Amino acid sequence: MARQAESSRILIFGGTGYIGKHLVRASISLGHPTYVYTRPAGPWTQPSNLDFHSAGVHIIEGELEEHEKIVATLKQVDIVISALPYPQVADQLKIIDAIVAAGNIKGTPHPANSRGSKPWEPHVLATTYVKPVKSLYDEAGIRTLDLLREEESTNQQHHPKFLEKKRKIRRATEAAGIPFTFVAANCCAAYFVNFLLHPHDPRDDIVVYGTGEAKAVLNYEEDIGKYTIKVANDPRACNRVVSYRPKPNIISQHELISQWEEKTGRTFKRVYVPEEDLVKLSQTLPPPENIPVSILHSVFVKGDLMSHEINEDDLEASRLYPEMQFTTMYQLLDVFLTDPPEPAMAAFG
Ligand SMILES: NC(=O)c1ccc[n+]([C@@H]2O[C@H](COP(=O)([O-])OP(=O)(O)OC[C@H]3O[C@@H](n4cnc5c(N)ncnc54)[C@H](OP(=O)(O)O)[C@@H]3O)[C@@H](O)[C@H]2O)c1
Repeated sequence: MARQAESSRILIFGGTGYIGKHLVRASISLGHPTYVYTRPAGPWTQPSNLDFHSAGVHIIEGELEEHEKIVATLKQVDIVISALPYPQVADQLKIIDAIVAAGNIKGTPHPANSRGSKPWEPHVLATTYVKPVKSLYDEAGIRTLDLLREEESTNQQHHPKFLEKKRKIRRATEAAGIPFTFVAANCCAAYFVNFLLHPHDPRDDIVVYGTGEAKAVLNYEEDIGKYTIKVANDPRACNRVVSYRPKPNIISQHELISQWEEKTGRTFKRVYVPEEDLVKLSQTLPPPENIPVSILHSVFVKGDLMSHEINEDDLEASRLYPEMQFTTMYQLLDVFLTDPPEPAMAAFG
């Protein structure tokens, strides 16, 4: 694919994965020369519904331990996004080291400093990515974006320490002096529609966690891909946090189930799992099995995604790009009626 003069070159780690392929698709469709750093094919290789070669994706085969190879790859690109799965979170330190070693990174203030007395620490975020960006406004520099993930949770006493790893990556990104953006993409909507409503396995009952009243934020994976590529190229997002919180996608379990009942013309029996049961499970299950239950508790019982206000001076994607539209949950349920996305096996950690 011919490179457009002004298009940044984007490298994606984990680009063959559940979230990663949405980022790759969006990057290609927005005209960016797109690179995927991937392990050589092996027993772990999943058949992908994205044909990288015919899509013009540059594939670089390598392991995360191959420092020099990653450095050499970084030197070819302007932006890096990491969509590695939870067990590989700590491996993102290797990417940060390589970004620093690549040498085309210019230090910039980290967001707590640049934002004066009001550092913004989001509570629960969606997906971890890391990206250094050679930004449009900073020719010599590279902006690192750590599309962060769950941050300090309000229910930390029940929460396993798995968030700590992600926090370390963010702090390491800042400490490395790499320009960055932190993205709070919130829940992957198709993933959670599959999990909560199980459209592939139509039963008469739907499980409700807690009271079902807490509000969560669910964004369609395709949109997360598109908005992330936009944000990655947006000078306004340098050293800032960007939240993806479009109003129609702020939704409770009861509202989601009611919309699904309206779409399907069915009435489901709502079976409640009390909060105490989830808390107990999160405390007694060994890691990593305690992660999904802890996230369910945090997101759908405590409503942690909505536990902080987004103010005028915060960056929110639907406000940043009024010319674009997030798929609403109501629209996404139509997709589930006609061409339902396959359930994924990720532990949403
Ligand atoms: N917020 C949400 O609703 C939500 C939902 C799902 C997932 N997530 C989060 O999204 C992130 C990405 O998850 P995902 O489900 O998209 O990941 P995934 O599909 O499980 O894995 C992504 C890619 O990582 C690479 N990888 C896997 N194991 C590896 C290993 N041992 N060493 C090196 N590379 C390895 C693989 O690429 P190669 O084989 O090409 O190397 C794989 O395709 C995670 O942080 C996850 O928790 C969030």
